[in-house]
Amino acid sequence: MTTILVLHGPNLNLLGVREPEIYGHTTLAEIDASLASLASELGVAVDCFQSNHEGALIDRIQAARGRTAAIVINPGGFTHTSIALRDALAAADVPVVEVHLSNVHRREEFRHHSFIASVATGQVLGFGADSYLLGLRAAAGLIAARR
Ligand code: DQA
Repeated sequence: MTTILVLHGPNLNLLGVREPEIYGHTTLAEIDASLASLASELGVAVDCFQSNHEGALIDRIQAARGRTAAIVINPGGFTHTSIALRDALAAADVPVVEVHLSNVHRREEFRHHSFIASVATGQVLGFGADSYLLGLRAAAGLIAARR
C-alpha cells in the first residue's frame, strides 16, 4: 500500500498542554489517530513520527527513500532555522506538504520565514489540527496525480 510519512518536529509531543490558546487542545496521539482514519478512507497508509531532534528527523527522511510516496511535515521551530532539514527533504525526491497548526504569518516576525517552503509543493497553516488532515488530503492528491 502507498505510504505517506508524517513528521512532527520539536515540542509537538506536548500538544494539548503546550500553549493551548495557540495550538489547541488536541493531543498528538489524537492527531495521529485521526490521520490514520483519514488515510484508510483515502486508501493510503500513514507512518507518523515525532522527534525533538533534527538529526532523528533527517534520519527518518533518509530511511523513507523509496518507501514513501509523499511527506507531510510540521517541522515546528526547525521550520525557521534548519537548512539541514530542508536539504534532506529536497533529497527525498517525493512531494512534500508543509503544515502548521497556527498561522505563522500572524505571529512573531521570526516565524514568517520558512526554510522548508522552497522544497514543499505547498503549505497548509492556521487550521489547528485540521491543517494535518488537509495536508494529508493534499499529499494523497499529489500522489494520485503522479500516477
Ligand atoms: C508550528 C509553528 C512554529 O513556529 C512553532 O515553532 C511550532 C509549531 C505550528 O504548527 O504552528 O513549534 O510549526
